Amino acid sequence: MPNFFALIPAAGSGSRMEQSLPKQYLSLHEKPMIFHSLNVLCHNQLISKVIVVLAPEDKHWFAYDWSEFNDKLLVFTCGGATRADSVRNGLLAAKQDNLVSTQDWILVHDAARPCLTTTQLNQLLHELAEDETGGLLAVPVADTLKRANSENRVTATESREHLWQAQTPQMFRYEILLQALQNTANKLITDDASAVELMGLSPKLIMSDAQNFKVTYPQDLALAELILQNRKTHD
Ligand code: CTP
Ligand code: MG
Repeated sequence: MPNFFALIPAAGSGSRMEQSLPKQYLSLHEKPMIFHSLNVLCHNQLISKVIVVLAPEDKHWFAYDWSEFNDKLLVFTCGGATRADSVRNGLLAAKQDNLVSTQDWILVHDAARPCLTTTQLNQLLHELAEDETGGLLAVPVADTLKRANSENRVTATESREHLWQAQTPQMFRYEILLQALQNTANKLITDDASAVELMGLSPKLIMSDAQNFKVTYPQDLALAELILQNRKTHD
């Protein structure tokens, strides 16, 4: 039986958040942002280990107490210049430590998606555990899509039929994911699935919802806070 591992790339600087502290450490619901993803992933029974990939120069991680996650949590300081580099380096480090085998499942999840729920995670695990290729959480595009020119004038309204917004976790077999990320080492890709797609494979889209959004801009923090607060008061 394959094992399940989560891998959280957390080596970014959060430049679009315009704060000196990398966004994964910004305070959200009384914890550093990354805590919320760790909390969901580390408490999942199916997942054996949760690997966090930090930037080699990270000076913030060790200022917090992560002991509640015990030895379920592993930290590698091998982040790279891009998200894809960080994921690839993390996969290689896991292999060096004899932690994973080729058919194990890897769930890659952004540190900047703190509103992932256990229900969404279980849905992904349940729907893909027997799948040949793997897949990702995603939501169908809800808004009308406009194509613009360089002056922000609409040049066309695009059909949104069959269009989805990709989220994370994205779940693939170790061997496929590593191969995919090695093939695309010099290409600009913004998620793991697109690397897998370039191998000619078709990842499966698993219905999620908009609450699992990526905190990217300063105004996103207040929305994530509201979502997490609302959950706690209704638990
Ligand atoms: N990430 C990473 N290594 C990088 C760049 C990004 O591990 N070299 C991680 C981020 O820490 C984040 C996830 O990839 O958890 C998603 O990336 P993004 O939202 O783009 O975060 P940042 O790159 O930090 O933000 P920005 O693009 O605004 O600088
Ligand atoms: Mg980025």
